[in-house]
Amino acid sequence: MFLKNTETLPLRSYSNEPRRLTWLNTAIRWLLGATIGAFILGAVFKTHVTVPNLLKPKVSRQDILQGGIAQYSPQYDVDWGVPDQLPQSCTIDMVTILERHGARFPDHKPRNEMVATIDKLHNAKRPAKHSKLNFVSHYDIRQTLGEEDLVWMGRQQAYNSGKRFFDQYKDLIDNSFPPFYRAPSSPRVIESAQLFQLGFNDDPIWKAYDDLDVILPEGKAHNNTLDISNCPLASNHSTTIGDDVSDVYASLWTPHWAKWWNDNFPGAKLEHKDIVNLFHTCAFDTVVNNGYISEWCKMYSLEDFHHYSYYLILQKYYDSSYGHPLGRARGIGYVNELISRLTGEPVVDSTSTNQTLDADPATFPIPPKDRNQMGHKVFVDFSHDSSMVNIISALGLAKPPGLRHLPFLIDRREPTPNYLFDISKYTPFSGRITFEKIHCGESIGEYDAEEDYVRIKMNEGVYPLKFSNCGPLGQEKGLCRLSDFIESQRWSMEGGNWYECYED
Ligand SMILES: *[C@@H]1O[C@H](CO)[C@@H](O)[C@H](O)[C@H]1NC(C)=O
Ligand SMILES: *[C@@H]1O[C@H](CO)[C@@H](O)[C@H](O)[C@H]1NC(C)=O
Ligand SMILES: *[C@@H]1O[C@H](CO)[C@@H](O)[C@H](O)[C@H]1NC(C)=O
Repeated sequence: MFLKNTETLPLRSYSNEPRRLTWLNTAIRWLLGATIGAFILGAVFKTHVTVPNLLKPKVSRQDILQGGIAQYSPQYDVDWGVPDQLPQSCTIDMVTILERHGARFPDHKPRNEMVATIDKLHNAKRPAKHSKLNFVSHYDIRQTLGEEDLVWMGRQQAYNSGKRFFDQYKDLIDNSFPPFYRAPSSPRVIESAQLFQLGFNDDPIWKAYDDLDVILPEGKAHNNTLDISNCPLASNHSTTIGDDVSDVYASLWTPHWAKWWNDNFPGAKLEHKDIVNLFHTCAFDTVVNNGYISEWCKMYSLEDFHHYSYYLILQKYYDSSYGHPLGRARGIGYVNELISRLTGEPVVDSTSTNQTLDADPATFPIPPKDRNQMGHKVFVDFSHDSSMVNIISALGLAKPPGLRHLPFLIDRREPTPNYLFDISKYTPFSGRITFEKIHCGESIGEYDAEEDYVRIKMNEGVYPLKFSNCGPLGQEKGLCRLSDFIESQRWSMEGGNWYECYED
């Protein structure tokens, strides 16, 4: 009802002019201001207030885990509407999997904020003795929620993913060297890659880890395509746009919940950010509970989860994707590495790749050009969600239709449509993108014997390739001729807007 596309900005609003970054921030703030005004007048959110039936869950486990907690969902398989059929005579000549680490505890800063909110509740007047909210007083967040590291479910996810990957690609693996493993240096990411490797090798999950082939150091001083921090202006701006947009959104959907909590815990004085922290607690407590829905989730309706997930979607979209002027720039280096693996040619890139590492076959092996030759053809890269969103955006995937950005405000009584960047379908915990290079010995159906093809799977479902170069084959079958796919990536091959990382 209150979806207003006038509240979106045209995608093309960023061009080459350096001042645009500041300009964009100002524009967004102005638009937000105007929108909030209109909204408060309309008081639309007030009309949906419902008094919850305490702690009888109102939302199914599936709705919470498949969309309701956005990128904090455990990975699930997604059907993008494209059939997954490969004729018998076809083979996969190269596969690269890019996977997010498994489920983890909250990061340091958000965890501190969650702890502060729970403390406010603990310091308030307690509810009556038999209240169904007694769990709140008993909840010891400091004990329950660690920081940064994988939780048990996350370990299992990574391990299971390795097992599954082996089953899916064993033919190629038989004819190739072992997979080549890379990860950035955060312990949770390294450990996920190592658990994947155990699963892949059919070793037990408790076995000692093997070393990975390459660990790329994280931080602004390092070139690292799996944790992209060497784009200075992005690091400086990344906390402004998406965080601001989502914060304003939160101030609109949370007030009735602030009132509800403050009524139940007089004196707690929760504000809109506290409500977001309570939703984070719901998400992480669920993950820590191995996917059993936390008490902290049970008071909320499906519509509340739509709001919460859209809050996270807006944040990610305007911090790391098309909504941030440098969101795509940070993904360019990885795209150029992928092109090298698809073509068997050396990496050409001067953005986020480490050119020393990528020029050395020991640290960046390149598949043989002749498919009958032995060589590395299976690649396993582990990463973080924000970097994966950078890469997905640089590739031109997950683009909102037309030239529009995600609206700041939408009617969230419906589930998030796919086209609105449902982040749980892209980078949930253990979320994965698989890039396949395919050829078929004979011409069958859409496959031409002489051609190589590219196919992308996003969380196990074949992903439609809507690039104009790929034509209807890309759109309907998720297939693109290799040469057309490469052509569709010209923007990254030419360095995209990386230079904007340095201008002010
Ligand atoms: C690139 O990798 C080399 C070899 O590991 C390392 O010595 C160097 O510091 C890296 N450079 C950057 C900018 O990350
Ligand atoms: C980024 O922010 C830091 C600290 O505020 C500042 O020293 C640096 O010059 C900024 N970099 C750019 C490229 O604006
Ligand atoms: C690291 O990235 C910067 C910026 O793109 C580039 O100028 C530099 O040559 C890179 N260093 C290496 C070792 O690749």
